[in-house]
Amino acid sequence: MRMPLIAGNWKMNGSLALVEEFGRAFTDVSLPVNVEVAVMVPFPFLESAGRALGETAVTVGAQTLSDQPSGAFTGEVSATMLRECGARLVLVGHSERRSLFGEDDAAVLSRVKAALLEGLTPVLCVGETLEEREAQRTEAVVLGQLEAVFDALDEGQRSRLVVAYEPVWAIGTGRTATPDQAQSVHAAVRGRLTRYDEALAAGMRLLYGGSMKADNAAELLAQPDIDGGLVGGASLKVDDFLAICQSAG
Ligand code: G3P
Repeated sequence: MRMPLIAGNWKMNGSLALVEEFGRAFTDVSLPVNVEVAVMVPFPFLESAGRALGETAVTVGAQTLSDQPSGAFTGEVSATMLRECGARLVLVGHSERRSLFGEDDAAVLSRVKAALLEGLTPVLCVGETLEEREAQRTEAVVLGQLEAVFDALDEGQRSRLVVAYEPVWAIGTGRTATPDQAQSVHAAVRGRLTRYDEALAAGMRLLYGGSMKADNAAELLAQPDIDGGLVGGASLKVDDFLAICQSAG
């Protein structure tokens, strides 16, 4: 079946000291064997995180990437650079990238392709704003973001993605989607994936993100179509993040 994935998204937070703290904590603890854990750290911490977590089961990932392989793109970071620095996964299309940095569906698709080309696992983030939810447009928005990427990939490429549903109104607000609300969108996403292929839909890991915390993770993760979490704020506190990882086992 689908192995749950708990991924911490540090966003533009953390420090080398926090990287070391995570390294020590995850070395001392045993994680459930049936759970995959990753931390998506800022670019400058990738190598240190790889070293600090090297003896643990935790994988290191990045939060975005360029869609270009190299060249005069000041400030950008390519998929190859990420891989060379130890990243194995990369977030693509996080709502903060979409809303603050103007990444539209085409930009998201080209980044997914760049990640795939380099053998990275793209974690495709999708989600509706509060306004869109209140206008009953949740599924249209989420499935539209999903199709903008999946329609343009071939079968082999599609199966290498992870999808994260993050309702924008639940990100960093302390307002979590209820397990029923989250499950209903996850079920719609999985249902739409069956249009490509039944096996793809059955195997695709769908993470929930949006104020996931130690005290609400278990009930979210108990939903049949929620296969893990993309955790922001709570991934910056090692005890909270560990507790979420444990509750996925
Ligand atoms: O990518 C994780 C995310 O956007 C959720 O953040 O702080 O609500 O857990 P947070």
